[in-house]
Amino acid sequence: MKASARALALAAALVPSVLAPLLAAVEGPEYLGPVAGISVVCMAAVAWALRTGRSSPLAPFAEAAERVARGERGVQVDAEAATPEGQRLAAAFNRMTEALAEAEKRSRRAERLAAWRDIARQMAHEIKNPLTPIRLAVENLRKARSRDPALFEELFDEETSIVLEEVERLRRLLDAFSTFARMPRPKPGPVDVRELLQHAADLHRTSGCAVRVEAAEGLPVLRADRDQLAQVLLNLVANAVLAATERAAQDPTRGAAWVRLAAVHGGARTLRISVADSGAGIDASVLSRLYEPYVTTRQGSGGTGLGLAIAYRIVTEHQGTMGVDTGPDGTTFTLELPLAGPTTTLGDSTLG
Ligand SMILES: Nc1ncnc2c1ncn2[C@@H]1O[C@H](COP(=O)(O)OP(=O)(O)O)[C@@H](O)[C@H]1O
Ligand SMILES: [Mg+2]
Repeated sequence: MKASARALALAAALVPSVLAPLLAAVEGPEYLGPVAGISVVCMAAVAWALRTGRSSPLAPFAEAAERVARGERGVQVDAEAATPEGQRLAAAFNRMTEALAEAEKRSRRAERLAAWRDIARQMAHEIKNPLTPIRLAVENLRKARSRDPALFEELFDEETSIVLEEVERLRRLLDAFSTFARMPRPKPGPVDVRELLQHAADLHRTSGCAVRVEAAEGLPVLRADRDQLAQVLLNLVANAVLAATERAAQDPTRGAAWVRLAAVHGGARTLRISVADSGAGIDASVLSRLYEPYVTTRQGSGGTGLGLAIAYRIVTEHQGTMGVDTGPDGTTFTLELPLAGPTTTLGDSTLG
């Protein structure tokens, strides 16, 4: 191919391959699908343009654009030895990748701030709930004591246990909330997924629910924050064991409760972990808001509604995805995690 044709094809490919992720960063994650498609097409064009010219002066651009399309940020082309045109192209390319990194950072920050506002609003609401029964219980006791000491004696145990229960609920809520709020940015290291799944299963050895682990030998090592991933599995398995056990108790004809943890090689660069249970499925009232904080059907029995919110956040920070398939015969949560682990260039986690 002629050098000029290659340059043309390269320019046509470079611009959208950089602009597409920029669009996704600015306009939101719903653009990621189309963006991935555009990037693949662009990269094919770059590869085609340079197939016969790996050693051409355009090769560094193709390589850099490929890295951008793979999700790397802050990629710069060094054009010192290039022609004046090459240097101009390099400067423009470098400006584009800087703008892309900056736009992504801003967009993540804005998203986080918005999420925090919602969480603060919900938190205030959740704290207000137990205050009413606490106030009523104390008022009842005061009234009873001033009117009828016998009634006071009679009410004392009942009303004080309401206060203690509600205070306990507040404590649980605050504990879970501080886990959620203090969650540091992931510190990735090599993770043995089989061992991790086994650890999550072992915690439920005495629960009366069979928790099985199915992970093939020779799974690739995953780069992730082990403690955070353990927390994800802990939350998912706790929900699964509860759902399975409840179902078995309600309807013994359906057989014993079980939970299955599995790990398989996902796509070329991902690992897929699933947590399946024999429960009765997720309640329709919470399904559409499942990953939002404080969404729970276990208000009265120790639920905080933060388990899945925490899990979702950790998986997202690892640049993974989390999906759910649920029905009357059970629920399966599936995580898809990049083997290479989270990249460290995406924004500032301390903001949220
Ligand atoms: N495996 C599951 N089977 C059925 N329902 C589930 C399952 N996992 C989660 N849920 C539902 O989602 C809600 C939210 O879960 P979660 O965020 O862990 O909060 P919590 O467990 O404190 O209620 C639960 O209250 C429950 O209704
Ligand atoms: Mg839970």
